[in-house]
Amino acid sequence: MKVYVPLDSGSVALGADEVASAIAAKASKVGSDVKIVRNGSFGMYWLEPMVEVETPRGRVAYGPVSTDDIDALFEADFLTGGPHKLYLGRTQDIPFLKSQSRLTFQRCGIVDPVSLEDYRANEGLTGLENALKMTDAEIVKAVTDSGLRGRGGAGFPTGIKWNTVREAPADQKYIVCNADEGDSGTFADRMIMEGEPFVLIEGMIIAGLATGATKGYVYTRSEYPTAIDVMNEAIKVARAAGVLGDNVLGSGKAFDMEVRMGAGAYVCGEETSLLNSMEGKRGVVRAKPPLPALEGFLGRPTVVNNVISLCSVPVILEKGAEYYRDYGMGRSRGTIPIQIAGNVKHGGLYEVGFGLTLGEIVEQIGGGTATGRPVKAVQVGGPLGAYFPKELFDTPFDYEEFAKRDGLIGHAGVVVFDDTVDMMKQARFAMEFCAIESCGKCTPCRIGSIRGTEVVDKLERGEQPELQIELLRDLCETMKFGSLCALGGFTPYPVLSALTHFPDDFKPRALDIA
Ligand code: NAI
Ligand code: SF4
Repeated sequence: MKVYVPLDSGSVALGADEVASAIAAKASKVGSDVKIVRNGSFGMYWLEPMVEVETPRGRVAYGPVSTDDIDALFEADFLTGGPHKLYLGRTQDIPFLKSQSRLTFQRCGIVDPVSLEDYRANEGLTGLENALKMTDAEIVKAVTDSGLRGRGGAGFPTGIKWNTVREAPADQKYIVCNADEGDSGTFADRMIMEGEPFVLIEGMIIAGLATGATKGYVYTRSEYPTAIDVMNEAIKVARAAGVLGDNVLGSGKAFDMEVRMGAGAYVCGEETSLLNSMEGKRGVVRAKPPLPALEGFLGRPTVVNNVISLCSVPVILEKGAEYYRDYGMGRSRGTIPIQIAGNVKHGGLYEVGFGLTLGEIVEQIGGGTATGRPVKAVQVGGPLGAYFPKELFDTPFDYEEFAKRDGLIGHAGVVVFDDTVDMMKQARFAMEFCAIESCGKCTPCRIGSIRGTEVVDKLERGEQPELQIELLRDLCETMKFGSLCALGGFTPYPVLSALTHFPDDFKPRALDIA
């Protein structure tokens, strides 16, 4: 009998390892033949650790399970899907999951992450098999036609980037997967690497076929040890099965890959800084041009794509560009795995076509705040994203619509705050974050962020408040237009949005007290 308990870091943080051990111990005590499969998470974190059992009516779930529940679950005959207060019904019928359009995360949670048989049994490798029958130009065309844009945050068309690398003459080209997921409130890259690593491997091989690259690297952070272990194991399995290596699936084409671990600097998520780090240099941003697509890793043409961009490719090659493009709105095509976090009732990963409004995401899917207090602000796009007030909840989740309202969707992290949040403190935090994480290469970011914290401090103390606000806006403009990369250039988004939408929070505290 199969029992599924996630190995996902989020679930483990909530006690999944202890729950798995307790189930194994109890099963052996009562003589039940139980095989525990450590799967990925479905991304419903308020239900984790979520335990599933296979029954004739499909997989049924219980959650959130703690070690204290195990005796009662066995008494309730949960191994055959018996009733219990933690019973959630069939996993696939849980509304949060059922209402999604899971294209990229279609197998995450369902399969044993390191079982290639499981992956194949769920249509895995079909996209790669199709790609092997196509020319490089045809693969690039399919990805371009699908409308896929970089899911790391910038939204640059993936097909155009691939074509630049494809057309660049070189003896060696590389695929680098940017898995240095540093945005606060984001976990999609980690979740898919832990739950469905073969889809990333498949996406990277397809990228290699499309561009002529034969070597790939997954650059990820040391804070993701489980993702690193699962990826390494999956690469080993794929190599042994002839999916990776000199003869990919017997095609005579070569592609191999490995995982590289960074030390956890936020700026190493910026592509040129990442490349420097991979080359053993300090993680400092390089000036562009040259673009990595022409002179990237070791000076060779390199595709640098985010995990989710690469993981979205297999389904495009499997089902066709049109199938993928049919999801979404405007120029934002396909699906986006939205990560709902912060002070929210139903935090987790929700993959859906672009176009839901921010209000639908926060209130309906997220269920409002965990504290039950009113929502005050939502930060979208990580620590460099803008804060949206409730008045802007009608904004559709779409690159252009967010840009129109001085925001960005970034890596699709949505962090919810209730009415107790102090937006002046949040603005100071943005400046402080930038000061700590700055690589130091350019002045607007290196010095501007420190001056920014000082200006907010003066504002808080009530020292010439009008002047400080003017200075803060001026400083933000300098950082926005004068910084070399997005870290310094985007820090003004949270600061200015806080100032614009929540002016009352910027009143001097000293005067309030007086
Ligand atoms: P960018 O707009 O400079 O570049 C986007 C991508 O397109 C890059 O890979 C660039 O090399 C490529 N590109 C541009 N023109 C090209 C051409 N003609 N041919 C081929 N490739 C071309 O943006 P950048 O600085 O790479 O990323 C900024 C974004 O990163 C922000 O929007 C932010 O949301 C996001 N971000 C994401 C984080 C995460 O944890 N995922 C963390 C921090 C920021
Ligand atoms: Fe470095 Fe900041 Fe300049 Fe980016 S903006 S290059 S992180 S100093």
